[in-house]
Amino acid sequence: MSSTAPSGGPDERDGRAPIALDGPIGHRRRAQEIVAGCTVAEKASLTSGASFWHTVGLPDAGVESVMMTDGPHGIRKQSGDADALGLNDSVAAVCFPPAVAMASSFDPDLVELVGDAIGTECVAEGVGVILGPGINIKRSPLGGRNFEYLSEDPFLTGRIGAALVRGVQRHGIGTSVKHFAVNNQEHERLRVSADVDDRPLHEIYLRAFEHIVRTEQPWTVMAAYNKINGVYATQNAWLLTETLRDRWDFDGLVVSDWMAVDDRVAALAAGLDLEMPSSGDIGPGAVRDAVADGRVPAELLDESATRVVELALASAQAADPDASYDRDAHHRLARDVARRCAVLLRNDEVDAAGALLPLSPSTSVAVIGEFARTPRIQGGGSSRINPFRVDVALDEMAEIADADTIEFAPGFLIGATEPDPRLVDEAVAAARRADVAVVFVGLGDDDESEGFDRTDWALPAPQIDLVVRVLEANPRTVVVVSNGGVVDLAEVDTAPAILEAWLLGQAGGGAIADILYGLADPSGRLAETIPMRLEDSPAFLDFGDEHLHVRYGEGVFVGYRWYDARRLTVRYPFGHGLSYTTFEFADLRVDTTDDGVRVEMTVRNTGDRPGRAVAQVYIGHVSSAVARAPRELAGIGIADLEPAESRRIAVDVPRSELAYWDRSVDDWVVEGGDHRVEVGASSRDIRLTTTVRIAGDARDQPLNPSSTLGEILDHPTAGPRLRARIAATMGVDDLDPTMLMMVSSFPLGRVAPMLGLDADSVLAELA
Ligand code: BGC
Repeated sequence: MSSTAPSGGPDERDGRAPIALDGPIGHRRRAQEIVAGCTVAEKASLTSGASFWHTVGLPDAGVESVMMTDGPHGIRKQSGDADALGLNDSVAAVCFPPAVAMASSFDPDLVELVGDAIGTECVAEGVGVILGPGINIKRSPLGGRNFEYLSEDPFLTGRIGAALVRGVQRHGIGTSVKHFAVNNQEHERLRVSADVDDRPLHEIYLRAFEHIVRTEQPWTVMAAYNKINGVYATQNAWLLTETLRDRWDFDGLVVSDWMAVDDRVAALAAGLDLEMPSSGDIGPGAVRDAVADGRVPAELLDESATRVVELALASAQAADPDASYDRDAHHRLARDVARRCAVLLRNDEVDAAGALLPLSPSTSVAVIGEFARTPRIQGGGSSRINPFRVDVALDEMAEIADADTIEFAPGFLIGATEPDPRLVDEAVAAARRADVAVVFVGLGDDDESEGFDRTDWALPAPQIDLVVRVLEANPRTVVVVSNGGVVDLAEVDTAPAILEAWLLGQAGGGAIADILYGLADPSGRLAETIPMRLEDSPAFLDFGDEHLHVRYGEGVFVGYRWYDARRLTVRYPFGHGLSYTTFEFADLRVDTTDDGVRVEMTVRNTGDRPGRAVAQVYIGHVSSAVARAPRELAGIGIADLEPAESRRIAVDVPRSELAYWDRSVDDWVVEGGDHRVEVGASSRDIRLTTTVRIAGDARDQPLNPSSTLGEILDHPTAGPRLRARIAATMGVDDLDPTMLMMVSSFPLGRVAPMLGLDADSVLAELA
């Protein structure tokens, strides 16, 4: 993936040597020796927290306690004693753009820089593990924590999440990839069972976790609150042991989400190493008893205790009491990143001079909306960072614009449910006086937060009314939206320009001003679809719970996979995002490689400003035997181009991206045949298309009496033999094709007795 790094990157490790790790975390042997010298009581105590944020240390053995803090888009370190729920103030830090924005950059290299900066801050603050990234898939626009998650697409989620992990862990600081798994709603999050079939489970909900675990070996994975198909994630041996450890080779530590453990012994047995936060002696006591009476093998406790010690030894190596970081440099990075995250949804031509944006510094502008002065930079709950500084869009615009060109009118009060006629009149009058009006609307803190889902997706009514009134007064109106979850844009979509600014972190105000005035080219792309109607969204009929179960009825058709398969019109599609310039894509070439396909294309900047092209590679099977989406994102190519510049971009799509989960073999399978390869400026703006023939995985399906006649007849060796055998039994030369079609769905075990045969003997003969 190619991209240009923004300026103001994070500090180097001051010339210190990179952390030596003798495994994904390292220190396994030393940890085993220490644990071998511990009593059962000591080992049991290690598997529960010491406090709200700390693990248990063993000072005599040189094992220090590790501090874990949220995360994910900055550090939320509570100094002194944490309050019981860990929600009080935390130390001042840098609030980078939250996940909703970061994913819209479509740029893992950029996100890695954020991870790098957060890792540096963790070293300086003595934090050993940062609790993030949150990589759950956005299943519904109503998900209360969507601002903290990356995308509706597992490929994008996996690549962005992996980049964050890479950046942080480079500093010898652990990450905690969360919330494992299928935690896609806040409603009843501690009790609900997410009931989901095998294919969506692997292809949509586990896929990003699998990618990050396999490629980055995160130090920890956080087990979620909810149940999956009836079993708590924290007690789910299939999830934590069979899948995470045995299938994906995870070698780090599994920690519970805070207070997610229902039954400590069942959790330990299932593979949960560390219960957080401290449960006093309740958890350790239960573990001691279970080991004493043989319900849990002693070796299992040894393994979990070893992982906790190993984490502590690794963290100790990164500790540096003299470390500090350059807050201002990180603020500049936060601004550079935010500039890459906002998505320009529309920018219509308004007159002969062209589109409304970018603004000229000499244009008189009515800046309207309280959010211009009181920015909303992040969501509520455990991820809330205490920013050391917050940029305000209004001030930043005034910095760029010529003197006396800006007039401000708040227009509404954040949180108000009724319009304030005086504020509206004032705003309308300002809009009338100005060349252009820029209206800042959005959701307030009370509208979306961790802990509850939204019940609708509308913008507050007074804000919609305000936009309508301002548009009447001055059609040259730009709307800037600040929101963590997708909102209904129906009524504001008549504005000629809309900037989806998400929640952009502490430097977002500056980034918005830079984009409005063209100091930065907007280059964000939608990481989630904005549908026409909430009713169109895939989980509309299956969200929330019924008797504590939520059925994932849409299967693998999540996000654009659903809208595309159903050919629904959407307001703004996945991958959409305008620039101030235009790009042409040409000369597509696709070659199969040893590990997948290589997609090459030429991208040219056809406008008169520099800009960033984001070439999205989508792949779809032309005639799959299973239900599959028309297209799935499988690669991203980025090119920063000067006017008239063109570049050849190559995107390698690993073969694993072509696979689907085949439940008959309980594994990933690449289906052979023609695959459509598309290159798009969005999922609905496909510029280049071709097909490539892919050889499928050889599947050696063992035959048994439950195999159908059709399956046996398709088998390369058994097929012809069976054909001859049936023909001989029936006294015919060959089999009637219509008859074959009719009987092909019958299992051999049902048909054989009719023919006076024994199924097992037939199979032995055919083998
Ligand atoms: C959240 C986690 C968070 C933890 C610690 C939980 O309520 O779900 O994301 O890391 O609290 O604050």
